[in-house]
Amino acid sequence: MNALPESVDAVADGLLEAGYLASGSTALVAYLATRLDKPVLVEGPAGVGKTELAKAMASYLGRELVRLQCYEGLDEAKALYEWNYRKQLLRIQAEADGAGWSEVQDDIFGKEFLLARPLLEAISSEQPVVLLIDEIDKTDQEFEAMLLELLSDFQITIPELGRVAATSQPVVVLTSNNSRELTEALKRRCLYLWLDYPTVEHELAIVRLHAPELADTVARKLVEVIAMVRELDLKKPPSIAESIDWARALLLLGASDIDADTFTATMSVIVKHRTDIELVAERVGLALA
Ligand SMILES: Nc1ncnc2c1ncn2[C@@H]1O[C@H](COP(=O)(O)OP(=O)(O)OP(=O)(O)O)[C@@H](O)[C@H]1O
Ligand SMILES: [Mg+2]
Repeated sequence: MNALPESVDAVADGLLEAGYLASGSTALVAYLATRLDKPVLVEGPAGVGKTELAKAMASYLGRELVRLQCYEGLDEAKALYEWNYRKQLLRIQAEADGAGWSEVQDDIFGKEFLLARPLLEAISSEQPVVLLIDEIDKTDQEFEAMLLELLSDFQITIPELGRVAATSQPVVVLTSNNSRELTEALKRRCLYLWLDYPTVEHELAIVRLHAPELADTVARKLVEVIAMVRELDLKKPPSIAESIDWARALLLLGASDIDADTFTATMSVIVKHRTDIELVAERVGLALA
């Protein structure tokens, strides 16, 4: 499918077909993003489906996913574009003595000598893509500033070439784990979606989607226990990713119930800090006994 979605419900259905169960607000923001041509900033704790939302959007819209994984120290050369120095050098060497420097210079700063990195690739693609800028909070503020031109005008400026306007308009999804506060300038240009841990019913539906063979009673108990564990003051509460892993593990082990023994044996799938394990074993283990 390449057309833009007709309604919020159409987006929700489409995402579901792509294996993503969107809440009402998620479907709404995703719909608005495609129709208003605005980037979406998705924030929330680890493992609640931020990255997956971008993947599901790409799959639903029938678009290629161009992904920029952010990290500390990421710069323009890795994110935007880089001159292909080797090719430029070869071009200069291949030039017979006759040509003047100005001619060669005009030539070696042409598009042909540009290496497109994800951001440039996304806006210069013939077919519109979904651009995922993952974990933007890992970069510094200078990088964010550089993104602003791209996010508001869908263009970039290359000093030697001038303005490069977008050939096609990407759907842009930025994700953040909130490890630092993002600038107001960036937030102003984006639609905002806060993804939190889901409600018990929503999580049950997600678990069913990923582990349909798991018995209903086990699946329900699983999400209830997970909710109970999240109530504790843990270093790292289990996310949806852990719920899914646990469901698959229980399925594989043929568990027909989550009793105290099963829980103790498998809890390392959902809690991954030593201090957390002790606390969870004591509180939840006891509740299940
Ligand atoms: N609404 C949902 N429907 C279906 N699957 C989901 C949903 N939310 C999360 N998942 C599943 O949970 C897992 C974790 O999701 P994802 O990797 O997108 O998390 P994240 O928020 O990007 O985490 P991190 O911040 O650690 O990168 C994935 O396997 C994804 O399929
Ligand atoms: Mg992610």
